[in-house]
Amino acid sequence: MDRPTVAALLTEGAAELPRREGIPDPRREAVWLLARAWGRSEVTVRTDAAAVPPDVVVGRYREWLRRRAAGEPAHHLTGSCPFWGREFQVCPDVLVPRPETELIVEAALALEPGRVRRVLDVGTGSGCLAVTLVCERPGWRVTATDLSPRALRVAAANARRHGVRVGFVRCDLASALTGPFDLVVANLPYVPSASLPDLPLEVRHDPVSALDGGPNGLDLVSRLVKDLPRLLAPAGQALLEVGAGQAERVRVVAGEVLAWEKPVNDLGGVHRVVRLHRQ
Ligand SMILES: C[S@@+](CC[C@H](N)C(=O)[O-])C[C@H]1O[C@@H](n2cnc3c(N)ncnc32)[C@H](O)[C@@H]1O
Repeated sequence: MDRPTVAALLTEGAAELPRREGIPDPRREAVWLLARAWGRSEVTVRTDAAAVPPDVVVGRYREWLRRRAAGEPAHHLTGSCPFWGREFQVCPDVLVPRPETELIVEAALALEPGRVRRVLDVGTGSGCLAVTLVCERPGWRVTATDLSPRALRVAAANARRHGVRVGFVRCDLASALTGPFDLVVANLPYVPSASLPDLPLEVRHDPVSALDGGPNGLDLVSRLVKDLPRLLAPAGQALLEVGAGQAERVRVVAGEVLAWEKPVNDLGGVHRVVRLHRQ
């Protein structure tokens, strides 16, 4: 039997992948998967329709199509996800880094570098925030916590991969640390428990411990906010990712103990990153 061309493989992929929230464009997804399975650029795959990939590539691509159709996130198949221009190892033990979390990086890098020295990342997951911040600001000393030992192993591997040092600590939020820190960043779980079953299929492959924010979604974020006066150095700042409609509720929790700045909006206009600082 003739071996399939790129054109045939893409047609096959587009037909096999169901169009749904996580796969809005099956053909584009097929291009992405074939390019990764083959180690070629997406442009090459799009423009070289008559090429015939090796059997091993076709086998990998077809396996990925099957798993992707069954709901596995694309980045779990390749084991890697880009974040702020770098590749991070991911697996089912950690949340796949999301583009909106890059807003925390952007806000952190906008701070005057010389005024920040000690940084804390609470709930580090893959380590994407902690590792990115040290890569971008080698003078910053970054500590990162997580409750999950498996997540901390992945984060440590990502720090090694990018050749940076991060102090990893396993603890509940920042309970094992005394600080003070000039900057605290966190993307903690913030999905209300009752909403978990309604999440898109792909998101349900992330660990529940990385998503479940308790009955009102803000259990962990609120606990951290209440601990910030202890953790932050004078004039220290916190950048916390939250979900739609949660920023104002965090403002209430912060009360009069912490000063509030206008949150950073994501592309959808959601108040995505809450900014607090010690008065
Ligand atoms: C939403 S994920 C974010 C991971 C990473 N910061 C990112 O932005 O991709 C939240 C992380 O918080 C961790 N976590 C959940 N509860 C925690 C707790 N009580 N103390 C420390 N970490 C916790 C989870 O294990 C998970 O890795």
